[in-house]
Amino acid sequence: MDGLSLIKFPIADELVDFKNLFDDSLSSSNPLLTSVIDHLRQRNGKMMRPILVLLVAKLYGDIKPMTLHAAVSLELLHTASLVHDDVVDESTERRGQLSVNAIFNNKVAVLTGDYLLATCLIQAGKTMNHNIIDVVSKLGQDLSEGELLQLSNVSNPIFSEKIYFDVIRKKTAALFATCTKAAALSVDVDSITAEHARLLGEYIGICFQIKDDIFDYSDSRDIGKPTGNDMLEGKLTLPALHALNNTEDEEARGVAVKVKNGTATAGEITYLIAFTKSNGGIEYAQNVMSEYKQKALGLLAQLPDSAVKISLQSYLEYVVDRHK
Ligand code: IPE
Ligand code: IPE
Ligand code: MG
Ligand code: MG
Repeated sequence: MDGLSLIKFPIADELVDFKNLFDDSLSSSNPLLTSVIDHLRQRNGKMMRPILVLLVAKLYGDIKPMTLHAAVSLELLHTASLVHDDVVDESTERRGQLSVNAIFNNKVAVLTGDYLLATCLIQAGKTMNHNIIDVVSKLGQDLSEGELLQLSNVSNPIFSEKIYFDVIRKKTAALFATCTKAAALSVDVDSITAEHARLLGEYIGICFQIKDDIFDYSDSRDIGKPTGNDMLEGKLTLPALHALNNTEDEEARGVAVKVKNGTATAGEITYLIAFTKSNGGIEYAQNVMSEYKQKALGLLAQLPDSAVKISLQSYLEYVVDRHK
């Protein structure tokens, strides 16, 4: 069994229910939409978010239909954000197959993403829990704001870790934080526990995006999506920001400004990637990720021992050690 199979063990039956509900939520009489949905269904992704919803709900209580609807709603929002993200990033590969924009086109991808978002709200409504509907709706705003903040920062010639963290908190950690909070709300916890759960998800999400950003520096073909894309899009992530903010090397900083304003050549991007690696950028990002992992483990340590708690600890190990 791989790492994820062990993590899923305490929620194996509920994951089957989740998968059935997810598939049932997506049915349309429109032939074009049906063929896009069939394409999406060919690859499930790692299902990190539904696994987290189910584990956290089970940590505090018994998984209910409301928990499953929340998990489906959040996985739909995640899927919509990926379909839209590949349009925004002009990316042609996702989950080891062609992205929707590549196999169909941008228009089809935008409209299908909208359909997935609307289906996400239908599923949130089926929880019949106003607090869950509120956090899911607010999440939709946060994801868009995170992406827009990232976009406005592309041509901005400063190398700010603060802006990087503002972006990843909104575009990625907010989704994990909503998974854990909605899970807790679905099993009727008090507000202090719901906040504890939210914070756990936020720390996990920050680890997740830092790891994803480190992947972009890898040459591996097994990740299932292109690497080396961030600088092509004018994005400097944590490893490069650290290397640039700790050097006197004016050449590197000059190339980085060109990367940000979209005028760097392929050779200059290769140079800046090598500069980042040889100036401790990857190690620094790994250390920051470990700090967030420790914060998350600290929150888990406050809870009574259980099989689900062990799964959540392993989930965190998986987030920081995974290879895709
Ligand atoms: C990709 O998320 C988007 C990021 C937040 C980096 P995942 O890596 O969880 O995507 P799938 O669902 O497994 O494809
Ligand atoms: C990830 O965006 C977060 C989303 C809102 C989809 P990225 O653009 O950094 O993620 P990948 O690397 O394409 O999955
Ligand atoms: Mg993106
Ligand atoms: Mg992308």
